[in-house]
Amino acid sequence: MQIITSAENLKNFVALAREKKSTIAFVPTMGALHDGHMSLVDIARDQADVVVVSIFVNPLQFGANEDFDKYPRTLQSDAELLAARDVDVLFAPSVEDVYPNGQQVLEHAGAVGETFEGASRPGHFDGMLTVVARLFDVVKPDFAVFGAKDAQQLFLIKQMVASERTTNPQRWHALQIIEGVTVREPDGLARSSRNRYLSDEEHRAALTLSAAMRAAATTTGNASVRIQAAAQLLAAEPQVRLDYVALVDSSSFEAVDDSFSGQALLLIAAKVGNTRLIDNLSITI
Ligand code: PAJ
Repeated sequence: MQIITSAENLKNFVALAREKKSTIAFVPTMGALHDGHMSLVDIARDQADVVVVSIFVNPLQFGANEDFDKYPRTLQSDAELLAARDVDVLFAPSVEDVYPNGQQVLEHAGAVGETFEGASRPGHFDGMLTVVARLFDVVKPDFAVFGAKDAQQLFLIKQMVASERTTNPQRWHALQIIEGVTVREPDGLARSSRNRYLSDEEHRAALTLSAAMRAAATTTGNASVRIQAAAQLLAAEPQVRLDYVALVDSSSFEAVDDSFSGQALLLIAAKVGNTRLIDNLSITI
């Protein structure tokens, strides 16, 4: 595996791969890799000739009071995991390489970017889309793989790529977005780089999130009844401070009303101790 730390060197690598007619699959991450990330790497490996994984903790998507400074940075062990998975390139650029013209927001998430995660983390999705767009421009992948764990992020990335396709079709013309299912710990907690912040006691309390999603899935009733079932369980766990629980239509990311029937996405965001966790589950109403 090559480790490439500058955008220019990565562009050279991509140009060579293109000359050889190789296809490229790309997995963007912020590192502190776990089995969830690795499942995306495996999808990428099955999909294309060349696999590029990026590790970049993007300052532009963190709020002033968030965990940018303490976000886990474990490049050495991440590189070992990726090499063992037959990854071709680990792209680990500096802030200057990603933002040669300074840290400016260049992509806007629009209305959906202001709800749910976007309401709790103002500017988060604009910063996330800005880095993803920059990485797409450098890597020029045929496939990019993202996790369903971050459902709103995935929705907004697909929206950005679709809108670019109409306004600027050359930019990412070959790009297909692929979705990987959420990988969980055996006890049900969704894998997350932030799980390492949790004490044993907080980890136990965090299991209420997956239990609440199961309750919403198995209760009979309309959207309100199911949200209520989840909210009740979450309220009974004193260590969980709920941010939101909602049911959205996955094609619009808008909340469904009580007349809705079909597949909907249950979203939960909560703080356990100082750690903010999100999770989601597709359920049939
Ligand atoms: P990060 O949180 O490192 O996640 C990288 C990718 O791994 C994302 O596509 C995310 O949805 C996926 N992922 C995280 N936990 C997962 C799990 N338990 N199962 C399956 N996939 C999982 O998301 C980001 O980084 C950043 O916002 C990024 C897209 C890299 C832009 O900075």
